[in-house]
Amino acid sequence: MKEIILQTRVKVCGIDELAAHDREVVEAARKATANSYAVYSGFNVGAAVRLSDGTIVSGTNQENAAYPSGLCAERTALFWANSQYPDKAVEVLAIAARTAQGELEKPIPPCGACRQVILETEKRFNTPIRIILYGTKECYVVEEGIKALLPLSFDAGFLE
Ligand code: THU
Repeated sequence: MKEIILQTRVKVCGIDELAAHDREVVEAARKATANSYAVYSGFNVGAAVRLSDGTIVSGTNQENAAYPSGLCAERTALFWANSQYPDKAVEVLAIAARTAQGELEKPIPPCGACRQVILETEKRFNTPIRIILYGTKECYVVEEGIKALLPLSFDAGFLE
């Protein structure tokens, strides 16, 4: 039997080591956590994206008493950005989270459904999205985009 090896490359650094233009997006995600509506989980997530013209747009998780009706911060930010600026590619996405105990030490990764939406956004604009996962102890930077976090992915190519 043959085997294929799928590799993921993630850079690990402190927030101070990020380039200023990336740090700005991370700071927008951290700030956005204050606007999260997470009354059921107490897990406040903020996401921010930088568009091709430099615009930064943020979003937060929005929960609902009917749990599946809520939405993650990443999809809120991406859908908002793509609704307001349908012609501007998303170039960077940063994610941060806090609980009542404060910000998370570990970088917060996007859920599977958000990864699928990030993939669609990359395809839509034909632009890989640099993904920055913020944690107080360290940040993960995924330079090559969603293919690193969602290998063997399903996309429009299979519908042809
Ligand atoms: N959540 C996000 O907003 N983004 C993630 O990447 C992980 C989870 C939200 C969904 C829900 O409101 C809460 O965090 C707990 O799962």
